[in-house]
Amino acid sequence: MAGRSVCVIPARLQRTPEGVPFAPEFQDIYHSASGGLAQARHVFLAGNSLPERWRGRDSFTILETGFGLGLNFLAAWDALRNDPQGPARLHFVSVERHPFVAGDLAEALAPFEELQPLVKGLLATWPPPIAGFHRLQFDGGRVQLTLLAGDARELLPQLEASADALFLDGFSPAKNPEMWSPEVVRELARVASPGATLATWTVAGGVRAALAGAGFRVEKREGFGSKREMLVGVREGDPVPVARPRRHAVIVGAGLAGTLVAERLASRGWEVELVDEREKKVAGTVGLVRPIANLRDAVNAQASRPAFLYTLQHFRALQHDGYHLVWRRGGVLQLADGEDEAARMAAIISAQGHPPEFLRYVDTAEACALAGRPVRGPGWWMPSAAWVSPGSLAVALLARAGPGVRRHIGRRVERLEREGGDWRALAGDGSVIAEAPTLVVANAFDAKRLLPDVRLPLSRVRGQVTFLPASPSRVLDIVVSGSGYVAPLPDGGHVVGATYQHDDAGEDIRAADHRENLARAASMLPGFADGAHPMELDGLAGFRATVPDRLPIFGATQLPGVWTATGLGSRGLLWAPLGAELIASRLEGEPSPLPRDLAGALSPKRFLS
Ligand SMILES: Cc1cc2nc3c(=O)[nH]c(=O)nc-3n(C[C@H](O)[C@H](O)[C@H](O)COP(=O)(O)OP(=O)(O)OC[C@H]3O[C@@H](n4cnc5c(N)ncnc54)[C@H](O)[C@@H]3O)c2cc1C
Ligand SMILES: C[S@@+](CC[C@H](N)C(=O)[O-])C[C@H]1O[C@@H](n2cnc3c(N)ncnc32)[C@H](O)[C@@H]1O
Repeated sequence: MAGRSVCVIPARLQRTPEGVPFAPEFQDIYHSASGGLAQARHVFLAGNSLPERWRGRDSFTILETGFGLGLNFLAAWDALRNDPQGPARLHFVSVERHPFVAGDLAEALAPFEELQPLVKGLLATWPPPIAGFHRLQFDGGRVQLTLLAGDARELLPQLEASADALFLDGFSPAKNPEMWSPEVVRELARVASPGATLATWTVAGGVRAALAGAGFRVEKREGFGSKREMLVGVREGDPVPVARPRRHAVIVGAGLAGTLVAERLASRGWEVELVDEREKKVAGTVGLVRPIANLRDAVNAQASRPAFLYTLQHFRALQHDGYHLVWRRGGVLQLADGEDEAARMAAIISAQGHPPEFLRYVDTAEACALAGRPVRGPGWWMPSAAWVSPGSLAVALLARAGPGVRRHIGRRVERLEREGGDWRALAGDGSVIAEAPTLVVANAFDAKRLLPDVRLPLSRVRGQVTFLPASPSRVLDIVVSGSGYVAPLPDGGHVVGATYQHDDAGEDIRAADHRENLARAASMLPGFADGAHPMELDGLAGFRATVPDRLPIFGATQLPGVWTATGLGSRGLLWAPLGAELIASRLEGEPSPLPRDLAGALSPKRFLS
């Protein structure tokens, strides 16, 4: 985790005189001069006996070395669209040291007319040049691309997956030996499940020997275009039958975390019993979602980047699929609190070099221009950060999850017990509210009581927000943060947040807290709170479940069949979508959406040592 770069260097698009995309750094072409798509179909799909081999499977995983233009990915996606017997879910995992920026990718893929509808979908979710794992979903989640942005030698050891087919496409071994090095081949062998196939257009002796040495049986086949031969292979070993739990879970807690886990599981065909003691959802406010950055690029900052990008694309996909989500990606301005912090914020950007569309430093004049009014000073501008209505999110997620999620509302879980192979959620009178082989404990601070053996170091922190009614003197379309935050509300007013009170279980709305929030607003935006009186304002109070290491808790506990999703602190919208995807992927034996070290940093098992 230490020392990993924040960004990747994008590829530069060049072409040979014949028009074939060319990489100057490697002095090699991206695909055969005889046609990239035909090569993808002949070498990589047919070479792995696809689509035949994926038929009848619930889920099928392809691992590729070298995403390049994405032609192999697009060819596989296209083949799946045209195959009614294809798997319910296709995972395509691809590692790429120099991803193209979206504009260059669009230009490079423009000649492939028949792929354009897919190209459009890919470009709509294509990430900025941020290093690490990016999970992108298409066709309602049937196709999942996990792009590992960075060097294969660094990222493949971080991959937790079981691949059914390998596409080896990392430029020619003579020009790019690193991509075929023993360490990379060893990782491919580790990830390939027994019986997994591989294909590549090179038949270089060194490659054949390395693959054979790592446990692949390889043979030559008729090649494509100017290449007389190509290579196919099979991972030796007998397939190990994997015992998967029945797809049935009890989830305790229907807040952000529980609802997202329910939706992610339902999208994989699970039946879910979603239990919550609360009858009514709190509505009427909005929450912020933005990444974290700090000087050491600590683990919370590292994990926040894939989490932030996943949240955005998950919400976009919900909207694209026709669900009503109230949100706006209008940007968040995070103001420095004084000169020292401003200097630190500027230093972080110059040291880590974030893409400006992700995060950049702005001086006071630009900050004022972005806000459209005076602000207290310079800071960070996160153009794609968003505010979201959590109420609308819950409704949209449950609508998308459909009848597979049964809600048990107004039921408090007093304790848990294991009976046979099932976990039971029990009410105070001992009656069984719900039972299933898999249990996900997602009830925020109360998870600590329900799972004492997991030793969750959770604290409860009260918070109150203040609503400011719409007023001509309070025009602000973006979110401004720094000392708390001021965010526009869909009704034209604003919400100011939030207080932070340890060991306080009160749910009452307090004028003193409004006063504190107004002072926050005034410190960031001079004059913004003028005329607002604490005694006349509305607000909302809630609780955060916080963890000393400032990381959320998502994953399997040491108890068989028990998972937890809690500790989201003040950043539920940032952590919950990717955390839920992590749990659902692991429960299904699918590729992890996070590198091994970050998944470990979020795991509840971290508190056991
Ligand atoms: C004032 C304030 C402002 C915030 N602003 C933001 C923001 O701008 N952006 C952001 O991302 N986050 C924000 N947060 C944090 C965010 O609200 C939390 O991170 C998020 O709600 C955590 O989700 P959760 O599902 O873990 O917990 P919760 O949303 O609290 O859900 C837990 C659920 O479990 C249920 N439950 C508990 N115990 C039991 C039991 N024994 N049996 C049955 N059900 C049970 C509860 O009724 C509840 O519905 C804010 C929080 C506060 C308090
Ligand atoms: C032949 S191209 C891949 C073409 C691609 N599969 C397609 O379908 O368009 C090879 C890719 O491998 C990438 N690459 C080279 N060395 C790498 C490394 N060490 N780690 C990750 N990617 C690497 C290159 O940047 C290049 O995009």
